[in-house]
Amino acid sequence: MSNDEFNKKTALITGGAGGIGLAIAQRLAADGTQLILLGRNQEKGDAALALLTQTGATVEFHSVDIGNQENLSHAMEQILQNHPQIDILVNNAALSGFTGPVLETPAEALDSVLAVNLVAPFLITQFLLPGMKKAGYGRIINISSVAPRVNPPHSVTYNMSKAGLNSFTASLSREVAAQGITVNAIAPGLVLTNRIKDSRLPSLAKESGRSTDEVLQAMTSRCDTKRLTTEEELADAAAFLCTPSARNITGQILEMSGGY
Ligand SMILES: NC(=O)c1ccc[n+]([C@@H]2O[C@H](COP(=O)([O-])OP(=O)(O)OC[C@H]3O[C@@H](n4cnc5c(N)ncnc54)[C@H](OP(=O)(O)O)[C@@H]3O)[C@@H](O)[C@H]2O)c1
Repeated sequence: MSNDEFNKKTALITGGAGGIGLAIAQRLAADGTQLILLGRNQEKGDAALALLTQTGATVEFHSVDIGNQENLSHAMEQILQNHPQIDILVNNAALSGFTGPVLETPAEALDSVLAVNLVAPFLITQFLLPGMKKAGYGRIINISSVAPRVNPPHSVTYNMSKAGLNSFTASLSREVAAQGITVNAIAPGLVLTNRIKDSRLPSLAKESGRSTDEVLQAMTSRCDTKRLTTEEELADAAAFLCTPSARNITGQILEMSGGY
């Protein structure tokens, strides 16, 4: 058995206090992984801390807007002072951003989505890579989307950001593979997180003149499996990518959409 089977790991998860990020945090904590969660909303962070510590997890939450480079750098410097060795990075936080036709999309909307969905994963990776290289071990998991393949209309900034994230995944994986660091993306189809229930479905319903139930049914029936992927299934996949069995899987975009 190699070292990575014995040592307890530390994982940094952006957007780890809610939705898919929290499911991944819960799953990794169940494996004994120490957690560092990043998000903007302190109340959400406190709730996640309460939930995770109840299960015996070692976890901390840092409130930071990762789209603000200065704030992000400051937070990362602080985190690295206390945790020079972070083994697992899950770049999960993202914004859906502006929805509308390309001609109506302001350049600022592109800037703000790229800042959170693409530039922040790039910068956080730059902070963590030296420690991973030194240890000869690292797992980087970027939460992408089916968007770069499906290209849903009126979501150009989001689609572009996730296409960039896939490209970053593939490019970086080649550069660091020989140093024990794998880089993969998980690309979900629709997942019924609170954000989707509270905001995305109602907005799609409004756009198409249908009820949210009708929109949900139409999206579900587009999946070959006739069901949506759950947060827990995504978390299981992320956890698998951190196991020794996955040590030779790198540069992959793992679609989990039920064939959407
Ligand atoms: N749900 C889906 O159907 C679906 C489908 C395909 C891909 N995905 C991808 O899956 C990932 C998670 O999505 P989700 O549905 O779980 O969304 P979510 O519940 O909205 O979670 C996104 C997280 O990102 C954090 N975040 C957003 N902007 C941030 C910023 N500027 N600084 C720090 N944190 C920030 C949010 O934290 P705060 O609330 O504290 O800001 C939130 O916890 C995203 O990458 C998304 O693109 C989701």
